[in-house]
Amino acid sequence: MAKKPTAKFSCTECGASYIKWQGKCPDCNKWGTVQEDVVATPSLGFRRSAVDGIAGSAKVIALDADLDLPDVSRVPLGINELDRVLGGGLVPGSFILLSGDPGIGKSTLLLHAVYEAAKQGMKVLYSSGEESAAQILLRAKRLGHMHPNILVANETNVDAINATINEHKPDMLVVDSIQTVFSPDIPSAPGSVTQVRECAAKLLDVAKSRNLPVWLVGHVTKDGNIAGPRVLEHLVDCVLYLEGEPNSGYRILRAVKNRFGSTGEIGVFEMAGDGLRPVVDPGAQFLEHFSANGPRPSGISTTVTMEGSRPLLVEIQSLVAKTVFGNPRRVVTGLDTNRVATLLAVLEKRAGLYLSMNDVYTTVAGGLRLMDPSADFAVAMAIASSLLDRPITGRYTFVGELGLSGEVRGCPHLGVRISEARKMGFEKIFVPEISLKNEKPRPSTDGRTIEVVGVRSISNLERLGVW
Ligand code: TYD
Ligand code: MG
Repeated sequence: MAKKPTAKFSCTECGASYIKWQGKCPDCNKWGTVQEDVVATPSLGFRRSAVDGIAGSAKVIALDADLDLPDVSRVPLGINELDRVLGGGLVPGSFILLSGDPGIGKSTLLLHAVYEAAKQGMKVLYSSGEESAAQILLRAKRLGHMHPNILVANETNVDAINATINEHKPDMLVVDSIQTVFSPDIPSAPGSVTQVRECAAKLLDVAKSRNLPVWLVGHVTKDGNIAGPRVLEHLVDCVLYLEGEPNSGYRILRAVKNRFGSTGEIGVFEMAGDGLRPVVDPGAQFLEHFSANGPRPSGISTTVTMEGSRPLLVEIQSLVAKTVFGNPRRVVTGLDTNRVATLLAVLEKRAGLYLSMNDVYTTVAGGLRLMDPSADFAVAMAIASSLLDRPITGRYTFVGELGLSGEVRGCPHLGVRISEARKMGFEKIFVPEISLKNEKPRPSTDGRTIEVVGVRSISNLERLGVW
């Protein structure tokens, strides 16, 4: 006899579970987010059979080299920047979660993907709970993305979505967004952890049994987590984030999990009047003052950062101003605040620059967020240049992580970075001396040259001769 379902409670924000209700979730400190879910306990018979070893044994496969593997050919969607992040194209049967802030362009990106797929002859079901079919139609019309292979549905009942899949047999499914979908078997509201988990599991069953690629759109909370269902991240094959500063036109697509490819790759897009336009050669997109020759203000420097296997030249801007009230302000965008605070201390103690009575504003041009610690050197140079009010005169760029004693630490992929700076027409690149021994730039193919300067420490900035 099946046991009565027992009640369990879980937090809709972080997914932590509890045996009794409470007003505040101790895990994420949010109020009013703990809700009851209903869990069916397995029947006693099932548990006993597992303990007694009565259950039939599982089928095992030896990893033999001659094994006949199922064909996992990828389908490139024809949007280079998206295919690159997916690891070369869409894998049939893959379950992909696309998340990002509201209004960042998730639905737009998927509409492009859906249109490209439709043009290749794939039948696509686009089920939206966010926008009405008419809204999607209007947008598709404006972007010139009308295609008879795209079927739009305004459905939020997961069973109805499954029934629609059975009826129309699409080759690709988009669910925008998973937080609006509900399963009628579960009493809690759409968007709660239980609903999201259950609906995703139901869709996953269909996806895997039909070898149907599925895109789920997921919302992100203010602190950047996929709202409620962190649980989803375990379930899906790929987790993609679409990010960018709201005021900047650039959007970066990043894979944070990918069972079919690497997670280091990024795709760069630009939000324009006709949707998200792929930025095919983003090499110099993030340079403002350095893209042209001519006088530059102080406080500007550049670095070559690595986003996956792709080098990007990025401009760092800094403004150092006298503090008016006692407490100096440190405003950082696009970089880690603590990292910049550390660099300020290093500059003060090791390079003799007095910053403790100054406000420091630091930002990355183009709305990019830099994770690469090798940007340290360039950030320090931008701050020093602004404090001394001496612009960096030539087309120079800086790569390297800074240690607490002011030493320039080694960084990976130096050869690729040097080659990229040379390609972008930089005259000089300052790099960690220690990495120079291991990595040499690739030979130049376009006749350009670059001077590579190894630097051991930032204790004497004058010696670099950049201003
Ligand atoms: P949308 O894809 O609806 O965002 P999400 O699904 O992530 O919430 O994108 C909405 C924003 O994109 C909207 O504020 C307007 C902008 N946008 C453009 O600038 N150009 C366009 O062609 C489109 C379709 C949207
Ligand atoms: Mg949307």
